[in-house]
Amino acid sequence: MCGIIGIVGNRGVADRLVDGLKRMEYRGYDSAGICTIHDGDLVRRRAEGKLANLVEELAAHPAPGAIGIAHTRWATHGAPIAKNAHPHATDHLALVHNGIIENYKELRAELSVDGRTLESDTDSEVVAHLISREVENGAEPTDAVQTVLPRLRGAFALAIAFRDYPDFLIGARRGSPLVIGWGDDETYIGSDALALAPLTQQITYLEEGDWTVVRRDGTVIYDEAGQKVEREVTTSGASAAAVEKGNYRHFMQKEIFEQPTVVAQTLGSYVRQADNSVALPQFDFDISSIRRVTIVACGTSYYAGLVAKYWFEQFARVPVDIDVASEFRYREPVLEEGGLSLFISQSGETADTLAALRHCKENGQTIGAVVNVPTSSMAREADLLLPTHAGPEIGVASTKAFTCQLAVLAALAAHMAVKKGLMGREEEQKVVEHLLQAPACLNAALDHDEDIAAMAPLIAPARDVLYIGRGQDFPLAMEGALKLKEISYIHAEGYASGEMKHGPIALIDDEVPVIVIAPSGPLFEKTVSNMEEVRARGGQIVLISDAKGLAEAGEGCLATIEMPEVHPLIAPLVYAIPVQLLAYHVACVKGTDVDQPRNLAKSVTVE
Ligand code: F6R
Repeated sequence: MCGIIGIVGNRGVADRLVDGLKRMEYRGYDSAGICTIHDGDLVRRRAEGKLANLVEELAAHPAPGAIGIAHTRWATHGAPIAKNAHPHATDHLALVHNGIIENYKELRAELSVDGRTLESDTDSEVVAHLISREVENGAEPTDAVQTVLPRLRGAFALAIAFRDYPDFLIGARRGSPLVIGWGDDETYIGSDALALAPLTQQITYLEEGDWTVVRRDGTVIYDEAGQKVEREVTTSGASAAAVEKGNYRHFMQKEIFEQPTVVAQTLGSYVRQADNSVALPQFDFDISSIRRVTIVACGTSYYAGLVAKYWFEQFARVPVDIDVASEFRYREPVLEEGGLSLFISQSGETADTLAALRHCKENGQTIGAVVNVPTSSMAREADLLLPTHAGPEIGVASTKAFTCQLAVLAALAAHMAVKKGLMGREEEQKVVEHLLQAPACLNAALDHDEDIAAMAPLIAPARDVLYIGRGQDFPLAMEGALKLKEISYIHAEGYASGEMKHGPIALIDDEVPVIVIAPSGPLFEKTVSNMEEVRARGGQIVLISDAKGLAEAGEGCLATIEMPEVHPLIAPLVYAIPVQLLAYHVACVKGTDVDQPRNLAKSVTVE
């Protein structure tokens, strides 16, 4: 969590630092701050709350200077108030940090014995003081940093400005990402290429343990052992424009509406339209020999994995274990020799998922990664990289990444089935045909945007909402509930339809809307029976189905949402649209901050 940026510039940096923070607000938005060096002084400005507050503070009290660092925070240690905002400073230096210093308590105690007073409740401030103490004792900044880094446990990306050295910044990373951007007579550091997109496309990704002295000219990178190293310069595809909302009211809305395009784009890399075959990237292991798949992910990406479990088991007859990443390592999972472990992540940086990936790697698994950021840590550490092509997802609630993940996972499951000899040519062609229908069906689903907006006021007053679905629509029920709770703050749960009678039905009364996700098909009748059980107890039903399903069971519902008739394979992609739109419009009715809901951050880089 948190976003950091630094500029060693040839002119004032404050505006550009703030612009970089704006691009990283998805990483956290509790508080923000900046520190420049000007006329031999550290000039620090910080503000609690949204970035707009820092902009106001800077308008009243500018921060001149051609070198500086900045930070947008998602609080881990210490409340989101001004004194805990970064940069943290001593008389000698200012520091910004993304990550968690796990041994901060003992380091803090050591500093306190030394008579040093820390002003914040954060873990980060101890790092500023440890390095400052070395400098005060006469160490050069590079030596001070090299002495302190090995003492830190946990994860960090750091950027440090030294008051008496206005021509360089020091950056370091372990566990949290950090990039260097190469400009024209300027050099930048930042949490990601997106933050630096308007400044440069020339990016170097620091490796685990690297640290760097960043200068306008003559930047040097060191590895964990302190050896000078060269790291590749790549051209980033991150576009400065990609983080604009265009004519949409919110990023989330824009991203929902991008889905037909980005799913088509993603499918373009996984199927060959000329002969309707599945076409995965080349990789050097025999997928037909895979006897078990382990899927690990968090949140929405986990729900995409749950849908994929149905596909891997149905098509390729491979058993799938699936875990939320924060639980995975701690249950000591049994990993079969030569198994495929699959990690699904929009950001490719989620700390729990990344730690699970590394655990599986250490245990001899082949690592597959379905990620949306091709330069992310997961992408770089995977044996089999399966990128989604959703483009930058800025809204904190994940939407387009989910449907693109589903598209990739369906193609992978079909590919495995083909390689195992369980899916014939004809069936493969049919699967691809169905997948290729998805973009048009997503468009048709989006046509119901206004209907969904019109019914949102019926749901907005609810305190609790239940979502139910069967089979591969069960994970979608959980995804719908997650979307609603995270952006509208209404309590919501997703259940398997048949599970209602085993407990949750006790919650039903006429104030608890139940959203039923039920495309017509083999499981429809059973879901309708469960829906009737709810209705018999006064439950208010919102039925999401196709024309056939609504004709059969739509009568007497609080509301209905009509979807196009689709093949079951693509139903989870298409039915994602109404659950996303419903959450979106309910949040708009409630007037919440849709793109930056309270307490959340887009990229969760702490465990
Ligand atoms: C929900 C949401 C989160 C993420 C989760 C995993 O809308 O966005 O639940 O899905 O934090 O993030 P990634 O996919 O980046 O690993």
